Amino acid sequence: MSEAHRKSRRLVSSMKRRALISIAVAATLALLGPAWAQEEAPPSTTDQAAAPSAQENDQGAAPPAKEADKAAEPPAKEGDNAAAPPAKEAEKVAAPEAKEKEARHESERHEQKPKRFDWSFAGAFGRYDKAQLRRGFKVYKEVCSSCHSIKMLAFRNLSQPGGPEFPEKEVEALAASYKIKDGPNQAGEYFDRPGRPSDRFPPPFANEQAARAALAGNYPPDMSVLAKARGYSRGFPLFLFDALPGFSYQEHGVDYITSLMEGYEDPPPDVKMPDGQFYDPYMPGRRIGMPPPLSEGVVTYEDGAPQTIDQYAKDVAAFMMWVAEPHLESRKRTGLGVVAFLLVFVGLLYFTKRKIWSNVPH
Ligand code: HEC
Repeated sequence: MSEAHRKSRRLVSSMKRRALISIAVAATLALLGPAWAQEEAPPSTTDQAAAPSAQENDQGAAPPAKEADKAAEPPAKEGDNAAAPPAKEAEKVAAPEAKEKEARHESERHEQKPKRFDWSFAGAFGRYDKAQLRRGFKVYKEVCSSCHSIKMLAFRNLSQPGGPEFPEKEVEALAASYKIKDGPNQAGEYFDRPGRPSDRFPPPFANEQAARAALAGNYPPDMSVLAKARGYSRGFPLFLFDALPGFSYQEHGVDYITSLMEGYEDPPPDVKMPDGQFYDPYMPGRRIGMPPPLSEGVVTYEDGAPQTIDQYAKDVAAFMMWVAEPHLESRKRTGLGVVAFLLVFVGLLYFTKRKIWSNVPH
């Protein structure tokens, strides 16, 4: 073997070693990614004004570019409430001052980014905390269910593995305590009967119009998938990570719901609230038609957990996450198994390749 030949073989084997090391590092990062991403400090309020959330656009609110334009126009409908200065006044102010004012109003108008909380079901090894799901269900049942339906949840789901896992007897008794509309019977009439575990939770209002009529024109959304349907953009560069499998942060919805529950406050003095609206900086537009639903001690916990707004909010958010994604645990377990298998498979492939090529001069 010539000197050059030997050199090139050494080079190739060192390249292979490097490739293996980088695969191992990438796999470790992919597994640890979510944990690492959680340690990020939430960005400041000024950043948020610059990074509009995807959610707001989803909801059909005016895109930020348009809103910025509005500040220069005479106040539109929204401007009245947010107390934007009328255009003529704004023109009078010197340019830098006007800009500063505009920035301040922007940050007041856009919702605040939700706080981040620790969730037992976050990350690759995440699992639901059964006690928390049970408490969350209690909060839903005793507080939220008077306005919000949860149409996709059947009573029997409450005893299935991976959820709150109530005993079946309890679920049967719970179902029987509800009246379910059924029919038509032989006489062609609809009738009420006690619920069965296979029934779904009956909604509190017969239809959307009935809900709006009872709640000052506001409509409480169904809670079946709300925890997954609500989210926010984390802005550059974190949204890049959200696009990668293994790195993505999936607890936006629960962070948002918890922050929303805890976030009610008095409106700033220059913000006028219409009747039936409440000030909450986490709600897009900062106004919400839901009266603050939680207060200290409103639900009695039997397991000794603190009966505070903070605890209620987290528990009910976790419960909503389970309702929206009941198979989270098995999904994560399968994912881990697949990654472990692929790692072993890469090793096997490498040694197979070495064996096959060992007798071939090259
Ligand atoms: C008095 C009736 C009422 C009760 C009780 C109630 N809500 Fe609401 N909720 C509403 C209404 C009305 C809306 C729609 C508000 C709007 O669109 O401005 C709403 C909206 C929401 C939203 C959606 C906010 C968004 O991003 O659009 C969430 C989340 C929510 N409620 C959670 C809860 C939770 C959790 C509870 C129980 C702790 C609860 N609600 C109890 C009436 C209620």
